[in-house]
Amino acid sequence: MVVFTMRLLKLLPLIMLLGVSAQAQSPTYGVGRTPTAEEIRAWDIAISPTGEELPEGSGTADQGSQLYLEKGCAGCHGTTGAGGLAPRLVKRDVGVLEDPWNYGRILPIRAPYATTVWDFINRAMPLNAEGTLSADEVYSITAYLLYLNDVIEDDLMVLDEESLPKIEMPNRENWAQVPDWFPGQPRLEGYPY
Ligand code: HEC
Repeated sequence: MVVFTMRLLKLLPLIMLLGVSAQAQSPTYGVGRTPTAEEIRAWDIAISPTGEELPEGSGTADQGSQLYLEKGCAGCHGTTGAGGLAPRLVKRDVGVLEDPWNYGRILPIRAPYATTVWDFINRAMPLNAEGTLSADEVYSITAYLLYLNDVIEDDLMVLDEESLPKIEMPNRENWAQVPDWFPGQPRLEGYPY
């Protein structure tokens, strides 16, 4: 079996080459269809660290605190951002830590970019009603969660497509400190990411 697999592996480039050239020769398989512009728009929602894909809109933590209750976030995550059945959204009260990872697995403080927090809320929350928040609402709630975690200090600071990407997250430089990998190295036990 092993020998057979090895042989197959050796043949793999050839098989792939044949596959590619076969594809080049046949114009269409009659499978699937070109997505509509509307369908692509619905999928194409990823926001990069620099935030250039962010839609226009704005909001403050002050507005977000109200929306957090109205949109049901509190029901799952707790009224104070902790104590609900869903993961806590506010750092544990353990003083100022050098390594933000130790506050817990909390997106609004461990994410390297504030745009990632916006992107996650926009695409994934509220759970079971994803995609129902307007851009203004996502800006406001993002501001609120950053405010709860002391990332921003002013609850009237306006977050919009210009100001959000400029926020310096505390974990900005600490995201990918993965030790050097060597071939055959076992999986990193207990590594938090
Ligand atoms: C029905 C319950 C429910 C509601 C309502 C809900 N969430 Fe969540 N939320 C969850 C669950 C469960 C997770 C964990 C998902 C996972 O880890 O894949 C989560 C994860 C998150 C995270 C990432 C947590 C982390 O640190 O990884 C954020 C941020 C978040 N929710 C924000 C919100 C906001 C803002 C709202 C309201 C607009 C909201 N959630 C509404 C259940 C809910």
